[in-house]
Amino acid sequence: MFASRFRSEYRRVLASPTGEDDHAYDAGSDDEKKPAGTMHLGRFATLSLVVCIVCTVANVLIACKPMGAGMSMMTMRPPAPLTRQDMHRLRRPSQFIGLADIHRPVPPVPRQFDNWPMLVAQVDSADSDKVFRSHRAHMTHSGTVVPEDRHIQTTSTVTSIVQFRAIDFGMETCELRVVIDPASSFTATLRPFMLSLYRLNASIPLNAATLSYKTRPPRLTEIDTVEVRAGAALDWHRNFACATEEVITIELACEVPIGEKDCDLEWWQNKDLPASAIYITQHSTV
Ligand SMILES: *[C@@H]1O[C@H](CO)[C@@H](O)[C@H](O)[C@H]1NC(C)=O
Repeated sequence: MFASRFRSEYRRVLASPTGEDDHAYDAGSDDEKKPAGTMHLGRFATLSLVVCIVCTVANVLIACKPMGAGMSMMTMRPPAPLTRQDMHRLRRPSQFIGLADIHRPVPPVPRQFDNWPMLVAQVDSADSDKVFRSHRAHMTHSGTVVPEDRHIQTTSTVTSIVQFRAIDFGMETCELRVVIDPASSFTATLRPFMLSLYRLNASIPLNAATLSYKTRPPRLTEIDTVEVRAGAALDWHRNFACATEEVITIELACEVPIGEKDCDLEWWQNKDLPASAIYITQHSTV
């Protein structure tokens, strides 16, 4: 009896979407009306199948809708993979919110720090496709170590391109410095020669992996020309305004003096001073 009651309730639930024949199924639980019951059962099965198919179709439609929308969005705007070279296109929002509103002494308190190049690379006019790979990488037990030593070199055909990014807040006077210490630099040119500094037209970080004479940015201005003498120290500097986040690209080139074959000048630099180096000292402006 319990089984028959259960069966009738089970049937009623399944039949409920149509709302019809409820009464007939209740009656159909009797064994006497078996032929009528099987007939109803056949109709019921067909009906269930139809409901099942309708529900499945509805489910598939619902499930596919967001996926379809996502796919059409993807075809409209494909999410381009972000490479290292695209990183400069990312927004650089100011980290110094509200600092400009703070009252400060006039003239500003003198503060300064050294800003080291983010890129140093050579290009060769005699081999316009050549990409230089000069770093002092060495193997250790845990892998390749690339120290921060940067190679600066000029010859009759090779020039050095050095890139900086002005950083921090209110440190918008940049002092470009070229310090040559005879003990930590090399030149085989005995006669004095001229070393020129150029500002290049590059406001985004250059890619050292593709930078060659052919792909170098054009020169904007000549900043200065200084005389270099073998065995003599040099301490050259020049101030200019630099906005926070501004990329500053400098080229060092030399001129072969009359009676010499080359104007070779070389050094390795890292953040140790005093030594031969090209770097920027940023000074406070607020
Ligand atoms: C510097 O390069 C930009 C584009 O990269 C160009 O629009 C501008 O004219 C160039 N300036 C000079 C002085 O060549």
